[in-house]
Amino acid sequence: MCGIVGGIAERNISEILIEGLKRLEYRGYDSAGLALIDHHHVVRERQVGKVANLVEAVTSRHLHGNLGIAHTRWATHGKPTQNNAHPHASGEVAVVHNGIIENYQELKQELQQLGYVFSSETDTEVVAHLVNHALKSTPDLLTAVQTIVPRLKGAYALGIIWAQQPDELIAVREGSPLVVGVGIGEHFISSDQLALLPVTNRFIYLEEGDIVRLKRNSIEIFVNTVLTHRPVKELDATVMSSSKGEYKHFMLKEIFEQPEAVQQTIAQALDAEHLKAGFLEKADGAFDTIQQIQIIACGTSYHAGMVAKYWFEQIIGLPCQVEIASEYRYRHPVIVANTLYLCISQSGETADSLAALRDVQRHAKQQHKTIFTMAICNVATSSMVRETDFHLLTLAGPEIGVASTKAFTTQLAALMLLVLKVGEIKNSIAADLKQSVIQALWHTPKVLNETLKNDAEILRLSELFVEKQHCLFLGRGTHFPIALEGALKLKEISYIHAEGYAAGELKHGPLALVDNDMPVVILAPKDEMLDKLKSNMEEVQARGGELFVFADEHSDIHAKDRQHVVHIPAVSEWLAPIIYSIPVQLLSYHVAVLRGTDVDQPRNLAKSVTVE
Ligand code: AGP
Repeated sequence: MCGIVGGIAERNISEILIEGLKRLEYRGYDSAGLALIDHHHVVRERQVGKVANLVEAVTSRHLHGNLGIAHTRWATHGKPTQNNAHPHASGEVAVVHNGIIENYQELKQELQQLGYVFSSETDTEVVAHLVNHALKSTPDLLTAVQTIVPRLKGAYALGIIWAQQPDELIAVREGSPLVVGVGIGEHFISSDQLALLPVTNRFIYLEEGDIVRLKRNSIEIFVNTVLTHRPVKELDATVMSSSKGEYKHFMLKEIFEQPEAVQQTIAQALDAEHLKAGFLEKADGAFDTIQQIQIIACGTSYHAGMVAKYWFEQIIGLPCQVEIASEYRYRHPVIVANTLYLCISQSGETADSLAALRDVQRHAKQQHKTIFTMAICNVATSSMVRETDFHLLTLAGPEIGVASTKAFTTQLAALMLLVLKVGEIKNSIAADLKQSVIQALWHTPKVLNETLKNDAEILRLSELFVEKQHCLFLGRGTHFPIALEGALKLKEISYIHAEGYAAGELKHGPLALVDNDMPVVILAPKDEMLDKLKSNMEEVQARGGELFVFADEHSDIHAKDRQHVVHIPAVSEWLAPIIYSIPVQLLSYHVAVLRGTDVDQPRNLAKSVTVE
């Protein structure tokens, strides 16, 4: 998704901006650009493709300046071309923008009537012209921006510079993430703090509606033209580590980080045999009152929610619904009092999930209904964490690969902790079941490590997928969502068409797809559904399908003709979904590498989807 970096310093800012853009590459983009103020003029360079192309152009033009803005663009309005790349300019004003200006057509017509000529198909260019036009009535960039912002409809973050005021950068946050990086005698902005880690670990997290004026020695934040204060927060070292180390890809590194990430996530909540006394203590009263849970999420996080539905209902008897945020937000759902609305998100900035959360909060208030909101999230400073009543952090550390891996398994661990906590408060979990789940949770990192030892075997199997066009993933119960997750992983990074199905649903349609050329991946933990699953496997084999089975070591499933088996260490059925995520991640990773795709930044995708 689009990325913004900007800054003002005594030193040349262009290298800092470019390093920032490189650190945003993981988010997905198709063009990049920067604008600097040099000798009271805007100088701009924009290139289609990788940041490396921009670097080449900036270096050959020897561009430098002390004030600048830069951008990676993920096309929404208009193709990925040089003209559509940011920054956009009007006169001596330059603008970078994330998000969408919904009323840009109407504004564009108005500006065209005033004589402004558009050189791009983007919605962003209207902002540059609007600011330029406002500067005809005021000599001050901040005032000009404050005048035009109320006219912009949509969700956006902006960075704006003007050659006539070469000592200040104006930034706006309205529905799209933006942080200020605080330096000494230099300050920065970015849509993602990772971009600024080489220059600072001190950040101000802007709130919706904030307009900021950065000068070398000052940071002023305005809400409706009134100066306000926002705290500066310091990041710790774990958040700051984001290198690939010995691994070929971030995704592989993140897959192998899962034992540690899960360990960290559970250790915040558990001591040897119990939930820690202070764990989610603030929510005790709310958990006592709730009658049901509504989970809202997208993509992989939605799959984690699907697993949790089984857990909430089976382990503590609490009704739980799960819905994709982009559907939930538009179907005018009934708000039910005493519901815990639980948003799950790696980034905490996903536009659809945030919009659904805000709608729920607004409607509950209008209807005078008591509800509670909670986030399970990997980013402590995210909008979602800040806007919910309670939160539980997944302590996975930064996840850079677009394909979510350690965020998913830590979400599952966090969800199980939440099940235990709500069950304890409501007194709805049997003591021996609670004990065995806690023991299983502590055991999970060890089993994850053992499961990762199957990597070489899974690599061998992946060679059989390289030429395939389609693939089915099957599971039952809590492993139906893992089948969906396996299919999502394979399609997003290897570009092979894949579907996940509940194995019992096979004969209701998808069985027609099965032939000699159709690999079928089966998730076969040892649980009460195993015998039913074995029958589903027979159905596939009878139609010539080739099976790739990840099976419990005691499942009595063995390799035979057109049936490949990788044995997975025995694990408690409650935590098995965490363990069975590993083989589907590794399979997808190896298939993608063998097919030569861009594993960490797959085509057309973005790490954090901050537009609708
Ligand atoms: C999964 O591999 C994807 N990157 C995607 O489905 C992701 O899970 C989804 O966009 C939701 O993101 P979030 O967890 O940051 O809200």
